[in-house]
Amino acid sequence: MPSLANKRVLLGVTGGIAAYKSAEVVRRLQDSGATVRVAMTKGGTEFITPLTMQALSGNPVHTELLDTEAEAAMGHIELSRWADVIVIAPASADFIAKLVNGEGSDLLSTICLASRSPLAIAPAMNQGMWRNASTQHNIERLRGRSVHIFGPAEGEQACGDVGPGRMIEPDDIAELTADLFETGSLAGKKVVITAGPTREAIDPVRYISNHSSGKMGYALAEAAAEAGAETVLISGPVSLKAPERVKTLSVTSAREMYDTALAEANGCDLFIASAAVADYRPIQVSEKKIKKSADTMTIELVKNPDIVSAVAALQKRPFTVGFAAETANAEGGLEHHARGKLERKNLDLVIANDVSDRTIGFNSNDNAVLVVEGQGSEAIPKINKSILARQLVVKIANMLQG
Ligand code: PMT
Repeated sequence: MPSLANKRVLLGVTGGIAAYKSAEVVRRLQDSGATVRVAMTKGGTEFITPLTMQALSGNPVHTELLDTEAEAAMGHIELSRWADVIVIAPASADFIAKLVNGEGSDLLSTICLASRSPLAIAPAMNQGMWRNASTQHNIERLRGRSVHIFGPAEGEQACGDVGPGRMIEPDDIAELTADLFETGSLAGKKVVITAGPTREAIDPVRYISNHSSGKMGYALAEAAAEAGAETVLISGPVSLKAPERVKTLSVTSAREMYDTALAEANGCDLFIASAAVADYRPIQVSEKKIKKSADTMTIELVKNPDIVSAVAALQKRPFTVGFAAETANAEGGLEHHARGKLERKNLDLVIANDVSDRTIGFNSNDNAVLVVEGQGSEAIPKINKSILARQLVVKIANMLQG
């Protein structure tokens, strides 16, 4: 299971013979699911070329602090914000001293100063330098500031000495980095989520739609990505920013959403249908704007295909979750209608919300839901959609594991 799924690691490479192993560190971090960017000190570039690190990481390598072009592409502050964790491997005695003194004399030390993310260093140096009282004092001071110290290992050194100071192996660096995070409950899973409204064209300027803002679905996509899932969000027209670490596919009509959803759902582990899909579309779509003439006009509608039912009917079926938008005064109540949808659409779970309450459901920041499954149901009272999404993801991940 990739333990660094959706995590962003900034690998710092400083000057030392162990820098040749940094290439392998990139690979091992990527194998664990991380996206890796590399920042190198001048000393680091003497031992391994930025080109090698760029080819392996798949991202431009950052070396200069005072380079307008590089700063314009992704500056040191942006890099420090981008990283979920900074790992410096190898960390030379000189760079460790720089960290202790809070120096910002080059790009990498500046990133470390600016970052609020966890910092880990894998020291690599001659055994005498490692044993030196100054280095040991520096290491203790970094430990006191919650910097994670990976190693060093003991053994034969490049200079011929034997003792402590070798950089630990790339596999161990990746494993220790992953240990800094809780393993995501959806790591290794592919999750597909529909969100927002659909628009059904009447003519080139008019359409039938609904009040869905996409907030619920986008919050679910963010929560799924945060839990480590490879997340695909299929979104109707909304004015929200595409979430980070999520593949967002924009669609307009129900039929477009249907085609995209079925293509993505094939082979996925979890499908969540939070979109408010138009149940019907006009049979005829006028090529030209319909002129205002008669006092009344009739638009004949035809049913749209049901996306979530089609996904639930796939031969290799994912765990399928539907929503139910109900009105409180509907005969039989929320649970009755949600249970009807659970059975008719062959779903594993239905999340029902009362859309007659303007403070929840459509276009609000909060929601209150009734989670209905085969056996029983659970009410989650009114709460912010982002928090609700995380709670739902935890619940669904538990059910998936069960
Ligand atoms: O987007 P927000 O402003 O944040 O609002 C959130 C929400 C109210 C839209 C959301 O919480 C919600 O209730 N979504 C489902 C809306 C809906 O269309 O419900 P429904 O009861 O009509 O449909 C039942 C289920 O079938 C839903 O999962 C729906 O996505 C799915 N469906 C419906 C029709 C269709 N052709 N294909 C479908 O997949």
